[in-house]
Amino acid sequence: MPNVFASQHPLVAHKLSRLRDRNTEPKKFRELVREIAALLAYEATADLVTVPRPLETPLTAMTGAELKEKIGLVPILRAGLGMAEGIWELMPTAEVWHIGLYRDEQTLKPVQYYNKLPVEPTVSVCLILDPMLATGGSAVATTDIVKRWGVKKIKFVGVIGAPEGIAAMQKAHPDVPIYLAAIDDHLNEHGYIVPGLGDAGDRQFGTG
Ligand code: PRP
Ligand code: URA
Repeated sequence: MPNVFASQHPLVAHKLSRLRDRNTEPKKFRELVREIAALLAYEATADLVTVPRPLETPLTAMTGAELKEKIGLVPILRAGLGMAEGIWELMPTAEVWHIGLYRDEQTLKPVQYYNKLPVEPTVSVCLILDPMLATGGSAVATTDIVKRWGVKKIKFVGVIGAPEGIAAMQKAHPDVPIYLAAIDDHLNEHGYIVPGLGDAGDRQFGTG
């Protein structure tokens, strides 16, 4: 699939299996979400632009590098929060802009409840973060919001994607690359990813 990257990294595969396990309790689940997100972000940011940065080591002067682009992390509430924490550790100068959406249980359509983006964009690259790409409604709606904000370089970073959600994103936003730990089999009649991991928000926050 063009523009879809499912991690092949053994660390990701190992941690994802622990995450899926129904016996993994919320504390461990949160830790795994943070770790997997950081590993995926490492892959998703491989094309960030750097500029030369002169510096002095204890031995000599040299030219190093620093990130040129201003990065925005956009976690979709609630489940994207753990991913933002993990990635923020790697890039502490990134801005974090939350978008609140929940999925209506009957229609499976996203309902927006939080958006405090300022009028003008303050970042040049956005990583949209949500562990579950199920029908794709939440990811598509958030990408719409970020594009309307004016950001041109956008990537979606999730943990598990369903073929249905990937297809929806590719149809609505073919220019947005999708980084995942795994692509699963299908959605069930309630819109849950199978085999999946259950409800990512409930499992992180102990609310299930
Ligand atoms: C979950 C998940 C995504 C959405 C994915 O959120 O975290 O945001 O569902 O489904 P979709 O691809 O079909 O839109 P949920 O609505 O359960 O809210 P929560 O994170 O607050 O639990
Ligand atoms: N949201 C979740 O948290 N899990 C799913 O499997 C689908 C949507």
